[in-house]
Amino acid sequence: MDQAIVIAVDGPAAAGKGTLSRRLASLYGLKYLDTGRLYRGVAWMMLEKGLNPRDEDAACTIARAFDPEALDTAELRTGEVGKAASHVAVHPGVRQALFEFQRAFGATPPGAVLDGRDIGTVIFPDATVKLFVTASVEERARRRFEELRLQDPNLTLATVEGDLRRRDERDQSREEAPLKPAPEAELIDTSKLNPEEVLGRASRFVDQALSRREMA
Ligand code: CDP
Repeated sequence: MDQAIVIAVDGPAAAGKGTLSRRLASLYGLKYLDTGRLYRGVAWMMLEKGLNPRDEDAACTIARAFDPEALDTAELRTGEVGKAASHVAVHPGVRQALFEFQRAFGATPPGAVLDGRDIGTVIFPDATVKLFVTASVEERARRRFEELRLQDPNLTLATVEGDLRRRDERDQSREEAPLKPAPEAELIDTSKLNPEEVLGRASRFVDQALSRREMA
């Protein structure tokens, strides 16, 4: 990872990681990987085959044969697939199967912005800069509700908030690679910030890290 710049963006669901990460990638000329799509992809394939995402052996078999480049379906963004992804993501063998792809993606120059749950803690403990993006659960539920109601007009804000709370709990309490900030991560609470303001804060942290790296 001598030359590659890796920006790790972790945080809970609907905190604004994707919007920020895409903007950072374009600002710094880096690639972007939404690592949630990998877990969603494995989960989606399991649901398509009628398999239970809690079935560890089946999940590992699917994850090992999984080709992230071949994945292109709008169905990955549904609430059902998000929930199944958080069940699939509990299995250590699944995380192991997806590890190398993420490492290789980030370590290839010029580097990348990766967003997820364990980028700064497990995938790139040596990242150039680590950001932990969060927001209040009410604000995150409101944002996710606005996104998902387009697909499902019968959805309620209360259902979305309940699902989000359960998913956060599952992500934070699992044994393998739980969601938590790396000790040196810069925290950004996006609850009261617009996307421009979030980018402004994040890019200050990135600039500081890049100048530290140049001096080293
Ligand atoms: O978009 P949203 O924040 O709702 O979720 P996502 O990033 O697409 O991730 C879906 C699920 O995949 C999460 O709830 C996690 O359980 C899992 N995930 C993970 O375990 N590790 C990652 N690096 C990314 C996602």
